[in-house]
Amino acid sequence: MVDDQTSNIEVVTALLERANYEVVPALSGEEVLEHCLRRTPSLVLLDMRMPVMDGFEVCEHLRANPRTADVPIIFLTAARERESVIQGFQHGAVDYVTKPFVAEELLARVKTHVELKRARDHLALVAQERADLTQIVAHDLKNPLSSILFAVDLLERGKDSPEKMAAEVRESAKHCLSFIDSYLGRWAKSQDLRKVEITPLRLAPVVRGTVDSFALLSQEREMKVSADIVEDPEVLGNATAIRHVLENLISNALRYAPRGSEVTVRCETGRSGMARVSVADRGPGVPRERQQQLFKRYVRLQADSEVQHASGLGLAISKEEITRMSGHLWYEDRENGGAVFSFVLPLAGKAAPRP
Ligand SMILES: Nc1ncnc2c1ncn2[C@@H]1O[C@H](COP(=O)(O)OP(=O)(O)OP(=O)(O)O)[C@@H](O)[C@H]1O
Ligand SMILES: [Mg+2]
Repeated sequence: MVDDQTSNIEVVTALLERANYEVVPALSGEEVLEHCLRRTPSLVLLDMRMPVMDGFEVCEHLRANPRTADVPIIFLTAARERESVIQGFQHGAVDYVTKPFVAEELLARVKTHVELKRARDHLALVAQERADLTQIVAHDLKNPLSSILFAVDLLERGKDSPEKMAAEVRESAKHCLSFIDSYLGRWAKSQDLRKVEITPLRLAPVVRGTVDSFALLSQEREMKVSADIVEDPEVLGNATAIRHVLENLISNALRYAPRGSEVTVRCETGRSGMARVSVADRGPGVPRERQQQLFKRYVRLQADSEVQHASGLGLAISKEEITRMSGHLWYEDRENGGAVFSFVLPLAGKAAPRP
């Protein structure tokens, strides 16, 4: 609520607080802009006639800042000022209330615009979640589809036994279908699409299974991916999500490390009292100045032409998935050259006892 008259602020504050709104008073345009920088309000009630910075100028500043651009502004104006009503709308306000206020009218307008803003924000969030999810599903289908393509390629060239290749194609296609089923299923049930079900599970079988699924792709790169199972900790997590993350890390290692080199996936109980999995390669690693950006969406560190089908999403998605399982994912340089991407997950035994 912005007004240079303290008495107006007091009346409106009392009225809105009685209706359970939280009111932050400001006596000038400068003050409200400062408040808005600290915390984005659900609505601004703005007096138009103020010394120094008037309401119209405040509107312009609020609209110009992406954080406050869609905050509804209701302006307060004297009944005789028809001109400023039009001007207020032209500056982006959504409604106005004439002074002296009628309490019910002010409350009704505030309520309507706060609810509209909440509905809009919710829709925007849902749209964003769905867009994110579409990207994730598309991204996750790339690994099994690449395996299928390579198996078909080997079949055509008669390089390996047809039965082995058929089994490979079947496994990868099943993998694709189960992804799609699980997302469509959750979509149909309108469940929170990003929520993962957390259960206690053994880590080693997930690591081994994922490493095995890269047999063909590593062969194509003349590389070897091996599992180094030091321990088999029981963690709290989601097997599908852990598998996605490992697939992203292993496919990166295969992509960015040189042909003929080795990739090691290690599974152990870390020093931190959490389970730790790391994927180590003998590639170029990541220069220190680029490490900060690695986990941001669409960040790629080399020219587009160098690597096919890369979108710069894998690490960002992986980090989000690990964080959702209360874990942590990070990068380190490998001794004697190469990259190590590691993640830790909470041990099942360490779960907080139920109250
Ligand atoms: N093991 C690695 N060694 C060196 N650089 C890496 C390694 N893993 C990732 N990077 C760098 O980090 C960038 C981001 O990786 P990320 O997996 O997020 O995207 P991407 O591999 O480019 O595309 P995709 O969306 O298909 O995974 C890569 O483009 C690459 O430059
Ligand atoms: Mg990647």
